[in-house]
Amino acid sequence: MVKVLVTGGAGFIGSNFVRYALGAHPDWHVTTLDKLTYCGRLENLRDVMDSPRHTFVKGDIADAVVSAPLVQAADIVVHFAAETHVDRSLQSAGEFIHTDVFGTFVLLEAARQAPRLRRFIQVSTDEVYGSVPTGASRETDELRPRNPYSASKAGADRLAYSYFATYQVPVVVTRASNNYGPYQFPEKVIPLFITNALEDQPLPLYGDGLNVRDWLHVDDHCRAVDLILEKGVAGEVYNIGGGNEVPNVDLTKRILDLVGKPETLIRPVADRLGHDRRYALDTAKLRALGWDPVHVFADGLAATVEWYRANPWWWGPIKHQDPAFQAYYQQQYAARTAGQP
Ligand code: NAD
Ligand code: TYD
Repeated sequence: MVKVLVTGGAGFIGSNFVRYALGAHPDWHVTTLDKLTYCGRLENLRDVMDSPRHTFVKGDIADAVVSAPLVQAADIVVHFAAETHVDRSLQSAGEFIHTDVFGTFVLLEAARQAPRLRRFIQVSTDEVYGSVPTGASRETDELRPRNPYSASKAGADRLAYSYFATYQVPVVVTRASNNYGPYQFPEKVIPLFITNALEDQPLPLYGDGLNVRDWLHVDDHCRAVDLILEKGVAGEVYNIGGGNEVPNVDLTKRILDLVGKPETLIRPVADRLGHDRRYALDTAKLRALGWDPVHVFADGLAATVEWYRANPWWWGPIKHQDPAFQAYYQQQYAARTAGQP
């Protein structure tokens, strides 16, 4: 059995990756290490929790007592665990430094003493390049992160590389664009807007709505990571982009159309501080390995809308019964949706 450690495997992308990996690789045993923060949910893994090829461990990556033995037993580490929401990083950046930077350091230290380890995938993000007004970021471009989330991810990205350059830890860095698909926590724009639309609630669109994100289906992301595990070269960086650049206002209108609700639900609100205008990735390096996204954005978005429509059991309790989420929503949006800055 190939022993694979997936950190953050109870989150959005991590849980999709665990499910994908167990299906694609009958010879893999996957251990999920996850702290189960506000967005880590065992429900995301409900269909694999009983698998004899999957083990779940609740713990903090920054706690070496728990995380180091798991890294040291692994053939492959895929490191997804992170604090991930830009807006939360603007309210309170401490957890981002703890998990994204220090937690990554703890895993890398353990990886120095991991006899079987042949790959350590550092899951980074296109946001480390900062805002790109024109063109598309290449792996060799300068990193210019502009908010605490992207800065903490950039720190982890380069820290991981430093452990390759210094200690030959077999690190490969991936930088993906914005993901969408099932099990994404309803604080991020696509699930927030779908679920608000389903409930006839306003869709709070930041600023002029012309910020651009490049949307990548989470399944295409999982396949890319798998291919990079097979063919990627240690010490290298690979961009993973969906090639679907969409201004937020267009995305919002598409969601409303798919849900069947009027555009009067769009509520222009005060902009995010330091809001990155545009991300775009050059994916030639990954394509040269043989990857192409298979999901067409229009179809993938429609399927995602249907998933949220069909699964209110998953998001309803978060939005309506979780006091922490309600407090967050109030703090983030109450003044904005009331028309105040
Ligand atoms: P998510 O917020 O849905 O999930 C993060 C998971 O990490 C959760 O299960 C959480 O419980 C866990 N976690 C947080 N702190 C932890 C800690 N200290 N120890 C152990 N587990 C901890 O995030 P996501 O959207 O699935 O993103 C996963 C990774 O992909 C992140 O590294 C993120 O930076 C990166 N990424 C995300 C996107 C995107 O669009 N979502 C795009 C590019 C890269
Ligand atoms: P988000 O899903 O938070 O991802 P990221 O900031 O990491 O790209 O936001 C995606 C885009 O949607 C971003 O330009 C900010 C915008 N947005 C809104 O307009 N309203 C919202 O309520 C949220 C959460 C995001």
